[in-house]
Amino acid sequence: MPKVTDIVTLREGNTPLLRLNRVDGRAYVKFEGANPTGSFKDRGMTIGVSIARSIGSRYVIVASTGNTAASVAAYAARGGLTCLVVIPRGGIARGKLAQAILHGAMVVEVEGNFDKALSLVLDTLNRIGQRNIMYPLNSINVWRLEGQKTTAFEIFLDIGVPDYVIVPVGNAGNIYAIWKGFKELRELGIIDKLPRMIGVQAEGASPIARAWRLGLDKPLFMDSPSTVASAIRIGRPVNWFRAWRAVKESGGTFVTVSDDEILHAQRMLGREGIGVEPASAASLAGYVKLLDEGYLRRDDTCVLIATGHGLKDPDTILKLSYESVLVKDAMEIVNLVLSRS
Ligand SMILES: Cc1ncc(COP(=O)(O)O)c(C=O)c1O
Repeated sequence: MPKVTDIVTLREGNTPLLRLNRVDGRAYVKFEGANPTGSFKDRGMTIGVSIARSIGSRYVIVASTGNTAASVAAYAARGGLTCLVVIPRGGIARGKLAQAILHGAMVVEVEGNFDKALSLVLDTLNRIGQRNIMYPLNSINVWRLEGQKTTAFEIFLDIGVPDYVIVPVGNAGNIYAIWKGFKELRELGIIDKLPRMIGVQAEGASPIARAWRLGLDKPLFMDSPSTVASAIRIGRPVNWFRAWRAVKESGGTFVTVSDDEILHAQRMLGREGIGVEPASAASLAGYVKLLDEGYLRRDDTCVLIATGHGLKDPDTILKLSYESVLVKDAMEIVNLVLSRS
């Protein structure tokens, strides 16, 4: 690892682990929306941007479904670097685009999906050639995954080793990073058991989970992934082999969930005071599905990773049906309350 003396940080990590009260079973939510830019990406970005700066890069670049863009923009701003974010036009949630703009990123849009954005970034890097000019910060960057493994350390400090950790999977880096964190705790003799890892993908963007369920040994890549959960709308996950190995080694599984199940889980979490974006709700949707299927038992301790904050994607929430009443005076509010009590 390059020597880094000056850490670019916004005080990421130390996110709350919250027991769910209204869900059957022993489920905890690790609320990554409490990170500085509202997603788990910050855990890795502190390291990635610190390294970029220490090797003298002036530019950092990512392709993003939104959260990576928001995070890198903030950390690059903090560290005084110029940031390019390459995003699918119309394919990222508005809150995330707003964050990238607020933090001064150069926003580059492509017609097409995330996979196209990533291939353009890789091509740009090949043409430039030198990492100390433009430093890539997608999750192919292993230093980012080193930061993300701290999620495992925090879970262990809060409740020890759970039976299962359930993670929404897009480009497939995070599930591997969390697994790596637990494995390192065991190598250090701090723990003697490991959790099983469960990866959740949306049905319309499930290259890994579908292949796993069919008993294949590699993903079925998808050219036009489609799901309401824009953060995990990825057809060709670059870290698929890492995620696959993590799940296999741990004795876990992959599962797919529908968009309706995701939106229902998002509302369930909302009613417990936990506001997450659709991709994050996939972990609860997967948990509920695996409980119903009998794969998980009610007394299994499960940690669901809620990867990003609900405010990232207000449009999806506002599309759900909701009740609102227009009133003219206070008496109407009083009557409304009385009619409900
Ligand atoms: C909110 C959210 N959840 C899940 C993921 C998927 O993480 P990974 O690409 O590491 O699988 C992402 C990635 O962008 C995300 O932003």
